[in-house]
Amino acid sequence: MSLWLGLLSLLILDTRTQGFGILPGDSLNHLEITERAILNVTVQVCHDLAAAEGADFTFPLKPFSAEGVAVVCGAPKSSKSFRKAIRFIILRNIRVDLRHALNASFHFDEEMFGQGRNIISEGVEAIKASNVQENYEAARQKLGEICHPLQDFYSHSNWVELGNKFPNSNLLQSGVSIGNIADESRATCRSCDGDDCRNNILEDIIENNILTSGYFGVVPLTSTKPKGKCSHGGAVDQTSIIDPIGGINKDTFGSSHGHLHTEAANMAIAATSALLEDIRKAAGDRAFLQMLGLSKGSSKALCFVIDTTKSMSDDIEAVRNVISFIINSEERTENEPAAYILVPFSDPEFGPLIKTTDPKVINTVIDSLSITGGGDEEELSLSGLQLALSGAPSNSEIFLFTDAPAKDKHLKNTVIALIERTQTVINVMISGSTLTNRRRRRDDSQQKQSRISAEDTQLYRELSQASGGQTAEVTNSELPVAISIISDTLNSSVVTLLQSARNPGNDDDFPFIVDETIINLTVYITGRSVTFTLISPTGESQQSTDTTGSLITSSRSAGNLQTLQLQNKTGLWEIKMVSIHPYTLKVIGQSPIDFLFDFVEESQGTFEGFDVLDSRPRAGVNGSLLVSLTGSTTATVTEVALVESWGSEEIKGVVDPQGSGNFLVHFDRIPSFEFVVRLMGRDDSFNNGASIFFQRQTPTNFRSSSLTITADSTSILVPTQVFSLPFSVTTHSRGGNFTVRATNSRRFSSTFPTSLSLKTGDTVNGTVTLSAPRNTPSGTDVTLTIEVEAPRGEDMNYVMLRFTVINPITDFTQPQCELLTLQSNCSDNCSLSTWTLFVRVDDGAQGTGVNHVRLRIGNGTIITNPAADNENVTMVFYSSSCCSPDMELLVADNIGNVGTCYYSSRESSPAAFSMSTRVTQSTLLCLSIVVGALILTERGFY
Ligand SMILES: *[C@@H]1O[C@H](CO)[C@@H](O)[C@H](O)[C@H]1NC(C)=O
Ligand SMILES: *[C@@H]1O[C@H](CO)[C@@H](O)[C@H](O)[C@H]1NC(C)=O
Ligand SMILES: *[C@@H]1O[C@H](CO)[C@@H](O)[C@H](O)[C@H]1NC(C)=O
Ligand SMILES: *[C@@H]1O[C@H](CO)[C@@H](O)[C@H](O)[C@H]1NC(C)=O
Ligand SMILES: *[C@@H]1O[C@H](CO)[C@@H](O)[C@H](O)[C@H]1NC(C)=O
Repeated sequence: MSLWLGLLSLLILDTRTQGFGILPGDSLNHLEITERAILNVTVQVCHDLAAAEGADFTFPLKPFSAEGVAVVCGAPKSSKSFRKAIRFIILRNIRVDLRHALNASFHFDEEMFGQGRNIISEGVEAIKASNVQENYEAARQKLGEICHPLQDFYSHSNWVELGNKFPNSNLLQSGVSIGNIADESRATCRSCDGDDCRNNILEDIIENNILTSGYFGVVPLTSTKPKGKCSHGGAVDQTSIIDPIGGINKDTFGSSHGHLHTEAANMAIAATSALLEDIRKAAGDRAFLQMLGLSKGSSKALCFVIDTTKSMSDDIEAVRNVISFIINSEERTENEPAAYILVPFSDPEFGPLIKTTDPKVINTVIDSLSITGGGDEEELSLSGLQLALSGAPSNSEIFLFTDAPAKDKHLKNTVIALIERTQTVINVMISGSTLTNRRRRRDDSQQKQSRISAEDTQLYRELSQASGGQTAEVTNSELPVAISIISDTLNSSVVTLLQSARNPGNDDDFPFIVDETIINLTVYITGRSVTFTLISPTGESQQSTDTTGSLITSSRSAGNLQTLQLQNKTGLWEIKMVSIHPYTLKVIGQSPIDFLFDFVEESQGTFEGFDVLDSRPRAGVNGSLLVSLTGSTTATVTEVALVESWGSEEIKGVVDPQGSGNFLVHFDRIPSFEFVVRLMGRDDSFNNGASIFFQRQTPTNFRSSSLTITADSTSILVPTQVFSLPFSVTTHSRGGNFTVRATNSRRFSSTFPTSLSLKTGDTVNGTVTLSAPRNTPSGTDVTLTIEVEAPRGEDMNYVMLRFTVINPITDFTQPQCELLTLQSNCSDNCSLSTWTLFVRVDDGAQGTGVNHVRLRIGNGTIITNPAADNENVTMVFYSSSCCSPDMELLVADNIGNVGTCYYSSRESSPAAFSMSTRVTQSTLLCLSIVVGALILTERGFY
């Protein structure tokens, strides 16, 4: 069981005793262990990258923080996504204690060494495969899940008691021994009392270096603890009061073996660091940092969902132009997206999803889009959106271009669910001019200038508003201005100060606080015939009709969309809106300070703690948010409210600080209206101690539900095997027949009950099956959304889960190096002499093939070439100045097994000149040509 569990609940529930804090003398928990390891290894990676580029590197101040590390990694704007990735990994780690509390394998209890190691090694494989496919969210999820057993090993087993000073590196891979495990029948502990309990493990176990771990059980006297075995120990563990009495866990200082807590926790940090190093080696440094949300550009994907039906033929040129405009304006800036995604849709086709990191590729694909299909008036736009939302990393940005209503309106709830889960922003560009054409053709009336109906646009407006985006209804000629207005929000430091909407329109006043960190204060308004008055912090006011006032420094408009740049003034602003028509209002700026949050659910009973919800929170009852501030280590939260999206009602929470920029916020009641989360805060250490007050809001709108759905996603999918996922649904409101829908992002074949009959308060179980086709590559991720809808669509909830596909592997060994020649004629003046070597890198007959060979040490020139006659072999030539006398190769196979090979010019000997007969003539010839070319180039330069 869990370890550090006691702590876990304390750490989230009550800072006064433990908190997130790292006070000297306090026990370390999973959160701190994981965070320290991630920050430690990240600093190491950034240091190595800087060294490789010959750049200076300054270590951040200790204790490391995500903000400080992002700065020294040269990616200060990534601090929010870095923080978010760490938080996600930690919350997945903590979840294991709540979801798998009594599964001994997840905690290395009960001598479940093989099972525990399998969870870890299978997870390592999934993480590496996910990184190859650039599915970083899937990689993070698995990383969190396996950190838990990995860390528990050092607290629950006797590894530390055996006198080990380093982590057990064999926990990361299958097929190798993790030690001499005690037989089932072998006694490992004796009963103990008081101080004697420090030495309750039997002497012969210690002397013979035998591995054991404690048994754990919560039900008195029904324990299955075999005779003579150790217990976990502690108040909850009922096995520890049965002979042999006592325990061996090192979860906290107060645990049975609490005197070894520090050793165990430090070993867990080192083991987690080693796990991260192993993942880093397989992924490469850049991909490793991306997995952790750190990059020079933005962590968002930029997605284009494009209607390619015939009616768009007049628009497609304009669409291509604006897309190139967006892509080109972001390229090589700090806002450059992590990926570009394109999803075409028409009717009856949609997709495929095309994803690339290369802006040239996406431009080319968009240029070659062909116009097809679409006879009637409606297209599969929501299917296209659904595909983009489930294929993009969270917090991405989608632009949907269409001129037609959605044919697949039944997907509205699914799309809204995906918006809530991913917090991705959707902007809809409705081009009216071709609508005119479309209608013209149909009506055969050249005069008719009607546009897409108000009702049809309303659906797009609701979706974009729910996500914090805009719906622009524009002509082709207005499209470029509309795009340039909207693409201002792509800046990676954009924060939302206020967002609201009214439908039907009514007059309302919207106050908002602008703080000293905000630049480029901008207001967006959509709607017809909207007028407003702006009032500045100093009481100055300006009407929308007044073009000479000083508050609005510039304004632009296109179709129904207008934007205003406001004067740079801090303090409380107000905008008074006047309109009888529907309108939306949004105020943004750029600032490093922002917040992250999740709804969390409290678990009661023995395993007390909080777990993040993958679904809507429960309506009408109390609930909690876990909030983290980003961009400042000194800022604090003063108020958090759930604010009605389409009105002015709000519910304020009680803020409970947890330390390290984390806050738990309790609400008496989660509202049943659609809402946004608004946060107020202050920072007393801004610029030499001046206090600043700030306001932030989520762009995404959220809803609650009287249904709860739970399901678990720790498993892995194996192609062609039918995977069964049990889920359960509870209704807290009226019963009846509930409709179930299960959709997955890969269109894998799937079965599920289409309806469930529930009475009020009932819990009913169901099963979804999923099956990935043969040849699905390892590392493919699939998101599964299970939706349950109440009778008459009165209520809806969902759970969104992510799985990774893994093909069973047989390749457990890293590629091997064989030195063919090493020539060195190094003289005293090293800069005048060179040394060279040939190495054969072979993944073996059972191997998956050499994936990459990189230089880890040395600054010479490396040339790698696959062998002509053996696909599992790569030939390596290396040439270096004698001033760099050492070199080390990093060799990885296609499954992520990684090794290193070290050579030095000082080790050259006559034997090194002999040549292996295994090298064929053709391979050598091939390499000689490359080498010849290299030497020529070098001569050319000098
Ligand atoms: C930090 O990570 C490095 C590997 O990058 C590892 O060697 C070291 O042990 C880690 N430090 C701690 C305190 O675990
Ligand atoms: C502020 O906005 C203007 C206009 O959108 C833009 O040109 C400028 O680069 C922005 N400033 C920053 C710091 O992003
Ligand atoms: C906004 O005003 C503050 C002080 O009033 C100033 O420090 C800051 O540089 C200004 N920012 C811009 C972008 O003009
Ligand atoms: C619920 O649906 C099932 C099958 O679809 C049907 O047999 C049953 O009569 C329905 N029950 C109610 C209360 O509508
Ligand atoms: C539903 O599943 C849970 C967990 O798998 C189980 O504990 C519970 O008994 C099941 N409920 C029903 C009604 O089958």
